[in-house]
Amino acid sequence: MNVGIDKISFFVPPYYVDMTDLALARGVDPNKFHIGIGQDKMAVNKKTQDIVTFAANATKNILTDEDKALINMVIVGTESGIDESKASAVVLHRLMGIQSFARAFEVKEACYAGTAALQYAVAHIKNHPESKVLVVASDIAKYGLASGGEPTQGAGAVAMLVSADPRILQLNDDSVALTQDIYDFWRPVGHDYPMVDGQLSNETYIQAFQKVWEEYRSRYKKSISDFQALAFHIPYTKMGKKALLAALEEESPEEQERILTKYEASIMYSRQVGNLYTGSLYLGLISLLENGQLNAGEQIGLFSYGSGTVAEFFSGRLVDGYQNQLLTNLHRAQLDNRTVLSIAEYEELFNDILDTDVNSDYEDELPYSIASISNTVRAYKEN
Ligand code: CAA
Repeated sequence: MNVGIDKISFFVPPYYVDMTDLALARGVDPNKFHIGIGQDKMAVNKKTQDIVTFAANATKNILTDEDKALINMVIVGTESGIDESKASAVVLHRLMGIQSFARAFEVKEACYAGTAALQYAVAHIKNHPESKVLVVASDIAKYGLASGGEPTQGAGAVAMLVSADPRILQLNDDSVALTQDIYDFWRPVGHDYPMVDGQLSNETYIQAFQKVWEEYRSRYKKSISDFQALAFHIPYTKMGKKALLAALEEESPEEQERILTKYEASIMYSRQVGNLYTGSLYLGLISLLENGQLNAGEQIGLFSYGSGTVAEFFSGRLVDGYQNQLLTNLHRAQLDNRTVLSIAEYEELFNDILDTDVNSDYEDELPYSIASISNTVRAYKEN
């Protein structure tokens, strides 16, 4: 049975910081951010915009009434949860008007969680081919003002509808996952920002890619030439490229150029957004599909990485007519119509933290946003 991604869309908050402005404010050569890190813009959110609002604003782009009647599972992958107990997926399920007899839950393993959700969705559809699963990866990546991780921040969500006979990407039954207990990036309960060993996280990412790629190649007798493109988890756009270059060392110059050209298409959106954590691989996939000039039948390899660490390499085949399912114009307009913030405005937003212990009403221009806090409960503006 063919199972995979039938629809896909992303949402990012409507404000950003220009990386040249950030570099100058931090006394850094702008080329370090634009070339060394590979980021041009960084998405920033208001306190009235959380992972539920990102998830709802992304999901509303893809669901029809028929989908809402057939979805019987909603999974949110996140490492920016807003409650230690209740899943954001339960709120999303209500906001989206999905039929009641459904499962809804949240999954966590750093940036890998979206892939765990996707793989669970695929297994579920294989048992229940008449149903559909909504998978959303939603996060706010924040490291702290003037911190080492600051230029690799970002925010937003990717929503995917998983079904039988998908119209975009049919997932192959060929994944290799890897788990290693490593502290490269983690966020203890009660901490607003993650603890991160930046250089260890870079090294672990590259080594994890090499391990799953080697195992995948030997288990499934595949090589680079079997793929038209590879998409990576993109904490910053240079990261995936470093892992890819290491894997391409033994390939011919033509093969290297072929794969690197597609890699550039996969990072076009992330360069303008930053890290989405759980959604980053899938923002890269959308960027690849919408800018990579791929053809139906071609194979795409996907590398998912979550610090801590879990990594997975898996693959998919593009479906005939996949281009008709893409929301390219909507996505490009969303990125183009954002407001640039000065560094002072960005720092003010950054420090303006939502206090859920204070009852209050809020105004926000987004279709879905936090409308009020009452007794620690977030009420969302709905459409
Ligand atoms: N012009 C061009 N390039 C320049 C430059 C200049 N003027 N100045 C510096 N550079 C280059 C450096 O040579 C370096 O390139 P290479 O890595 O290719 O050698 C690059 O810019 C970055 O420089 P540094 O290593 O000195 O940067 P840093 O010490 O400030 O840290 C970072 C960079 C480790 C990514 C840090 O921003 C960080 O900790 N980020 C958060 C952690 C992270 O994203 N880790 C990625 C893997 S973990 C993961 O994937 C999970 C996740 O989502 C978090």
